[in-house]
Amino acid sequence: MNHKGKCLFRFAIFLFALLYTATGMAQQRKSILPRELWPDDKGNHIQAHGGGITKVKDTYYWYGEERRQGLDSNYRYVSCYSSKDLMNWKFRGDVFKMTDPDSLGKKWVLERPKVYHNIKTRKYIMYMHIDGQVKGQKGNYSYARVGVAIGDSPTGPFNFIRTFRPLGQESRDIGQFIDDDGSAYLIFEDRPVKGFHIAKLSEDYLDVEKDICIIKAPLEGGAVVKYNGLYYAIGSALTSWNPNPNKYATAKSLAGPWSEFEDIAPPETNTYGSQSTFMLKVVGTKSTAVIFVADKWKPRTQWDSRYLWMPLEIGDGKLRLPEPKPWRINVKTGETAFIK
Ligand code: DGJ
Repeated sequence: MNHKGKCLFRFAIFLFALLYTATGMAQQRKSILPRELWPDDKGNHIQAHGGGITKVKDTYYWYGEERRQGLDSNYRYVSCYSSKDLMNWKFRGDVFKMTDPDSLGKKWVLERPKVYHNIKTRKYIMYMHIDGQVKGQKGNYSYARVGVAIGDSPTGPFNFIRTFRPLGQESRDIGQFIDDDGSAYLIFEDRPVKGFHIAKLSEDYLDVEKDICIIKAPLEGGAVVKYNGLYYAIGSALTSWNPNPNKYATAKSLAGPWSEFEDIAPPETNTYGSQSTFMLKVVGTKSTAVIFVADKWKPRTQWDSRYLWMPLEIGDGKLRLPEPKPWRINVKTGETAFIK
């Protein structure tokens, strides 16, 4: 290559690098847009519905129901995404996939997966709601069990272990809560008792060991967070995929007593069209944020269901979900800000 050729070649490389960086930068999200499409690193809308978030070192892993179009209808899938800033998410694949575990029929259900990191055993334990029709009973949600799977890394692969009824009770929507001391709890809705359990997991997390509390309120989508020494529980009414006014209660101890439930947002907004799934606490150097992680379901086009993530106004026994608008978070400082 002559001198001119070399110069041209270098210039082409420079242009390519510039373009690559510029495109890369353009793809960097600097905000969270509640209820909008939320593209992952490949530009596909994130598929992590009814999800849960597990932090390992400085990385957040978001697990949820994979509902993209074109999936093999014999299987149910759990997706995983990772992020260091909660705004940009990298698709890590479908980390769990299985066929009907208990002969439940074509419409069997896997919903609301949550993953627990067991520091002692170094395993990752996935809980999920498993359901389907039971002979002689009505509807597709009569099996009412949890399923458990295990993996060696946050990105799996996860291997199925079994399904069971936690503490012998019916279990539909599940939620996850890790207390500040690291204790792990499964939240599960139990229709016969008209309430939801907060139950401690066994030491290896493979079983549900004992009830800490049964909150006698007919609520699903249960989520708990501890903030400034007080526990806050959120739940949604039993209205299938339709949004309703989600409510919260507080307690000084996880075992209760729990306060009366109150609306988290103006009731006429039906929680701004969303349903509670999880509360994520981000403890930063300057402040602590609690993020309301909710689903805006589209039951007929589930792949297009959206997410409503908003920082909650929380403290002194009060909790309020602000009107959704674009916002950002600095996970290092814990500060959040609305974008005008
Ligand atoms: C409400 C639950 O919260 C969802 O996870 C799902 O189970 C729907 N019901 C099904 O109707």
